[in-house]
Amino acid sequence: MSEIQRVGVVGCGLMGGGIAQVSAQAGYPTIVREVDQSALDRGIQGIQKNLDRAVAKEKISEEDRDAAMGRLTPTLDLGDLEECDIVIEAIIENLDAKHELFDSLGEICKAPAIFASNTSSLSITEMAARTDRPDRFVGLHFFSPVPVMKLLEVVRCGQTSEETFKAAFAFGESLGKSAIACRDNTGFVVNRLLVPYMLDAIRAYEQGVGSIPDIDTGMRFGCGHPMGPFTLGDFVGLDTLYHITGIMYDEYKEARYAAPSLLKRMFLAGYHGRKTGKGFYDYSDDEPVVSDFVK
Ligand code: 3HC
Repeated sequence: MSEIQRVGVVGCGLMGGGIAQVSAQAGYPTIVREVDQSALDRGIQGIQKNLDRAVAKEKISEEDRDAAMGRLTPTLDLGDLEECDIVIEAIIENLDAKHELFDSLGEICKAPAIFASNTSSLSITEMAARTDRPDRFVGLHFFSPVPVMKLLEVVRCGQTSEETFKAAFAFGESLGKSAIACRDNTGFVVNRLLVPYMLDAIRAYEQGVGSIPDIDTGMRFGCGHPMGPFTLGDFVGLDTLYHITGIMYDEYKEARYAAPSLLKRMFLAGYHGRKTGKGFYDYSDDEPVVSDFVK
């Protein structure tokens, strides 16, 4: 257990819920906050379902599941995060919304508390600069699905103190993650490499190199990836991918980060992947089939 005793998570969606789950499973009393009751209930039910599945597969005992659920405190009140030693933000990828949240947390949380953002592409430096504690601000970038993916990017910016970085890194490892140190460059390590790869797959399809299932199969069986690039795009969300692409292109001005026109059109049409039922594939039936948009 690191020197961090009590954890706060803001946002109980796919990422926030996963972060709250691994924190509670690692033994931390964890307070998770959402803005409305139905989102909070959905998030907590998701965690319960994940833990029930782990019990059914005999990965954890019923006692471990119940203890983890017992360490979780769902709340709608940001004020309940007052006593946390670290607060991890996992809300929408909107800088203004994040600034506003950290402004409020600055007034609520004790002075030594560390603030962390799970952003995948916004600037940690910019977020830290707006807070009352830039030296105690880090990026903690988890990967989806959080309970399964082993990696955690621990991101330091110019203002992050050595003490904060070490505490955040030790905390990440205490969650059972393999932590890697990253500087605050847009995309950090993984998205800097992964995003151009996914965009290249879309361009390959646009240029008639192969069909969507064949390109996916190629990368699965040719490179041992668990999912091909189109299945992964649908899994991450094509809205999220399009959004990250915009931020990365804006930062680097390099063609490899520019959204292919197909991605833009799918984003505009609401084909966002699994979350909307259709992306590159259609998820209406048990077995996904290529969606009408790209047939
Ligand atoms: N939540 C929790 N656990 C989940 C899960 C979820 N949403 N989905 C699957 N799992 C668990 C299953 O319970 C199972 O657990 P077990 O091994 O203990 O039995 C395990 O994951 C494997 O699941 P399945 O057998 O059902 O299916 P797969 O073998 O196909 O695995 C997968 C699913 C883990 C999602 C795998 O396909 C995979 O690793 N895909 C790649 C995911 C990836 O690349 N993620 C990173 C995305 S990039 C990102 O997040 C960055 C962001 O900034 C964009």
